[in-house]
Amino acid sequence: MTNTDEQLFVGVMTGTSMDAIDVVIARFAGSRPTLADCRSQPLDRELREELLSVTGDTPLAQVAELDVRMGNALADAVLATLKQSGVSPETVHAIGCHGQTVYHMTAQRWPATVQLGDPNIIAERTGITTVADFRRRDLAAGGEGAPLAPAFHRAFFAHPLEDRIVINIGGMANLTYLPAHRGQQLTGFDVGPGNVLMDGWIAQQRGETLDKDGAWAATGTVDKELLARMRAEPFFALPPPKSTGRDLFNMNWVLRHIADGRAIPEGADVQATLCELTAGTIAEAVTQTCAQPQQVMICGGGAHNKHLMRRLAAHLPQCDIVPTDTLGIGADWVEAAGFAWLAREALAGRPANAVSVTGARHPAVLGGVYHG
Ligand SMILES: Nc1ncnc2c1ncn2[C@@H]1O[C@H](COP(=O)(O)OP(=O)(O)O)[C@@H](O)[C@H]1O
Ligand SMILES: [Mg+2]
Repeated sequence: MTNTDEQLFVGVMTGTSMDAIDVVIARFAGSRPTLADCRSQPLDRELREELLSVTGDTPLAQVAELDVRMGNALADAVLATLKQSGVSPETVHAIGCHGQTVYHMTAQRWPATVQLGDPNIIAERTGITTVADFRRRDLAAGGEGAPLAPAFHRAFFAHPLEDRIVINIGGMANLTYLPAHRGQQLTGFDVGPGNVLMDGWIAQQRGETLDKDGAWAATGTVDKELLARMRAEPFFALPPPKSTGRDLFNMNWVLRHIADGRAIPEGADVQATLCELTAGTIAEAVTQTCAQPQQVMICGGGAHNKHLMRRLAAHLPQCDIVPTDTLGIGADWVEAAGFAWLAREALAGRPANAVSVTGARHPAVLGGVYHG
């Protein structure tokens, strides 16, 4: 039986980790999507390295070229997902695409955020209406432009009788607090680094892209002094709304804190310390936001890091910590599903920025529309 009210949306996410292009095909009957299919397309190595190297000083010509190359990579990933699932592009209502953030500086005189991956190319090559550039309208309205996921987390995971927390552990970690009573304010903010520093350290020390299951970190001993120096980073003490990215938490930040110590620690000890930094700052953010949430749901690639999950559980013995899989959406697909949802909200003309989260002056319809 087919439901005529059903609409298919595609959601596309590429986060700070720059590990892959995550694509979901989401079926909406009401406001809660079910996932028809998903695919994670690893980012081409050369493209990834060039994107990683972008700074405020990168020549404009190089940025412009990367915008086009990323636009094509995103279109490729969408087309491959449609092909894999046997879904024809004509049946897809719209694509919601985040794009690759290469710059996000909101605490300066002219706050700015830049996502690469030209949506014109995606609309042209797929023939599907594409909604993109979700962050800048919120920024224009005085907000942080981030995080955007909390509004989707509320639509999907909120419960009338339970205080819930969603933590997305991607390159960065962000937290959403969903109080049981809708009258209470939705809270969401970037906590700090998720996997980005662990990824960076193992890449530099061992040439590996990630510390699978946290196995290397598990062999190390936490360097308490290094941890204390890193925890003194002022960002951690800032009250929300706040957002962050690679512009702050990067390998230079780690190396600077290592250099400030008396001795150079072992590689595995640094990895254990970086893992502890992520676990400890997330746990602190949880307890400061809600004394006893009924459920703490984890999504993002960090959910697969077993050592990190063990450390988080050790810091939060009072909490029931579960991957979002148990609530109907796999940990790896929540963020991409959120962009399918955001495209739907945009086309319906509904504001999708949670102003209590981003700090914007008013609710705004997010995203530019590129017709298919
Ligand atoms: N099996 C695993 N063990 C440890 N870490 C993992 C594992 N799988 C994924 N990750 C981590 O998750 C990251 C990707 O998470 P993701 O949610 O895609 O982040 P982003 O949104 O920043 O792209 C990887 O870079 C890696 O650090
Ligand atoms: Mg990713």
